[in-house]
Amino acid sequence: MSYLVGFRCSLCGEVFSPEAIMYTCPRDGGNLDAVYDYARMQRELDPRWIAHDTNRAIWHYAPLLPTTLPEPIAALPTPLSTLGWTPLYRAQRIEQRLGMRAVWIKDDTRLPSNSFKDRASALVIAQAMKIGLHTIAVASTGNAASALATLCAGTPLRAVVFVPQGTPEAKLAGILIHGARVFIVEGSYTEAVEMATAACARFGWYNRSTGFNPYTREGKKTAAYEIAEQLALHAPTSTRFRAPDVVVVPVGDGNIISGLHKGFRDLHALGWIERIPRLIGVTAALAPSLYRAWRSGREDFDTIPSQTIASGISVDRPCDGVMALRAVRETGGVFIEASDEAMLQAMRTLAVEAGVFVEPACAATLVGLEEGARQGWIQRDEEVVLQLTGSGFKDVRSALRAADQPIPVRTVDEVARALT
Ligand SMILES: Cc1ncc(COP(=O)(O)O)c(C=O)c1O
Ligand SMILES: [Zn+2]
Repeated sequence: MSYLVGFRCSLCGEVFSPEAIMYTCPRDGGNLDAVYDYARMQRELDPRWIAHDTNRAIWHYAPLLPTTLPEPIAALPTPLSTLGWTPLYRAQRIEQRLGMRAVWIKDDTRLPSNSFKDRASALVIAQAMKIGLHTIAVASTGNAASALATLCAGTPLRAVVFVPQGTPEAKLAGILIHGARVFIVEGSYTEAVEMATAACARFGWYNRSTGFNPYTREGKKTAAYEIAEQLALHAPTSTRFRAPDVVVVPVGDGNIISGLHKGFRDLHALGWIERIPRLIGVTAALAPSLYRAWRSGREDFDTIPSQTIASGISVDRPCDGVMALRAVRETGGVFIEASDEAMLQAMRTLAVEAGVFVEPACAATLVGLEEGARQGWIQRDEEVVLQLTGSGFKDVRSALRAADQPIPVRTVDEVARALT
């Protein structure tokens, strides 16, 4: 049973019935946001049922989702039917170094395709199955495509992918190996988005592109549910959900941060958490479109060619920028910029101090924490979650830049010399 009542346009505010729309607002092209009947949910749902469910996949939140997989879910391929409930653990070494009370790591590098994007692809796949579309296409900087290819594997669905030139080899490999059809688009991610939109219109494919498809945000919000449910396991509450003070999130298109915001908004509207955490978005300094809009106070975005090495957040113009700006503004958060050098350094620090190997875009979270604490946006007695989004194995070249060089040796004497 779904409590979805419609989709609200982020620009004009009009609410459309779920059957009336496919992607964006028919009037003005604004991104849509799913609307639920919270009053009825509150009457009919008990959060303890969700917490007691022995199935920990994202599908255990089905009553809070706009769509779900066809039954029996267990008959579907395992990555699709079981994804979710990634580890949430303390990073004590980072806490000690920064003098922080609690820094949690939400490790979505452990999802089936090793990035956060599995959450969005799973929901889009569920919706494609529901409406009977068999080919799903996506424009991606690599991870969304990899998630789609991985989760379509073993189902009757076909994945078609549009990635920009310069997509890291490991991301390409992780898409191609699952049998997806891959097109490398001349130009940047922006051109890939345009190509995917045109191809879907021409060939009747279902478009998964981030933000444009409203189900992506609904999949991503499951990370907020998990954070709140997992935090309550460490300090129990009557509702079995508990919010942190701050969540730090890497931002490209802005759909992950708007998804986390949505998840916390849902829980707050239902009265299952007491407050919505402050969301801190970290953008790449060399992909400045969203950050400039934030600074100017406007909700429109210039197209500025991105130069960053952090492929996951390398966007010329954010596809879910309006909702990302609101996620930060409405929660009392802030946007912080990370330089490429700082992200590479943070990649190394996360690997050495927390034992987690992430790609540069994801390492931006640690830059956000350190800068946020330094600039006074985060207090030392607060509970902070770093939302990790992508594995370091996706961008080995950046890892080799961030790490020490290996030492070639032929004899033990040479080892001894190297040690002095
Ligand atoms: C590793 C990683 N982190 C963060 C992001 C940013 O997500 P969004 O584009 O929704 O802001 C992406 C998007 O591709 C990503 O791949
Ligand atoms: Zn509209």
